[in-house]
Amino acid sequence: MTDKSASDAESPAGGIRWEDGVPVSEQFDDPYYSRTDGLEETRHVFLRGNDLPERWLGRDRFDIAELGFGTGLNFCATWQAWEQSGHAGALSFTSFEAFPLDAAQMGAALDEWPELSTYRDRLVEMWTPSGGQFVFEHVTLTVIIGDVRNTLTRWGGKADAWFLDGFAPARNPAMWEPGLIRQVAAASAPGATLATYTVAGAVRRSLASAGFKLEKCSGYGRKREMLTGFLKNCDLTSNDV
Ligand SMILES: C[S@@+](CC[C@H](N)C(=O)[O-])C[C@H]1O[C@@H](n2cnc3c(N)ncnc32)[C@H](O)[C@@H]1O
Repeated sequence: MTDKSASDAESPAGGIRWEDGVPVSEQFDDPYYSRTDGLEETRHVFLRGNDLPERWLGRDRFDIAELGFGTGLNFCATWQAWEQSGHAGALSFTSFEAFPLDAAQMGAALDEWPELSTYRDRLVEMWTPSGGQFVFEHVTLTVIIGDVRNTLTRWGGKADAWFLDGFAPARNPAMWEPGLIRQVAAASAPGATLATYTVAGAVRRSLASAGFKLEKCSGYGRKREMLTGFLKNCDLTSNDV
């Protein structure tokens, strides 16, 4: 039986298979992104779901945090949107990943979108599965390797926007545990927002009880609905949820 538990140490992805050009995790038996079009899904769910790029305009610095770096597709799409928005400030993109892909796997996945080739090439050239910090002019990517349930508590940052992208909750409940969701709230800047493709009841309850005000909106591809939210109250001692 496959051990789906993650440790704090670097642990390579347990293998991927390709289904119609889409990488599928052998370990979690789930695709890394929508089979319809991963790039459009990223734009719909994570960018528009967090009101981006509008919310970063006019900011000197904007912090995005992501649960699950995977192929780097969300990062490349965000980097492209940042450049296209003509923003002069600094973007910090931090992602938490327990089972890093290697550069060849990542590059093969991202080859699907020629419009991302500049970003793909630069990421793949610098990528190492041990993660770390990668500086691309005004955009800084930090990938923290290890089980996010252990690593997020040690992160000193505060996110303005969250991309919750940890495989389907039924296939990877560890990425949606109530304790982890509380850590997400604690590592949020005032007014932080989140977006995710799942509307699973347990996830909604955990997010609401951590202080997020949620809204269901139309999902991407075969998913009828998705979830967006913002942090109502940064005082986590409050019971007003
Ligand atoms: C849906 S994929 C993320 C897709 C990614 N955002 C992209 O742009 O390609 C989910 C990711 O979560 C990672 N993951 C699964 N369990 C984890 C855990 N406990 N801690 C950190 N990362 C985990 C998986 O290895 C996988 O890369």
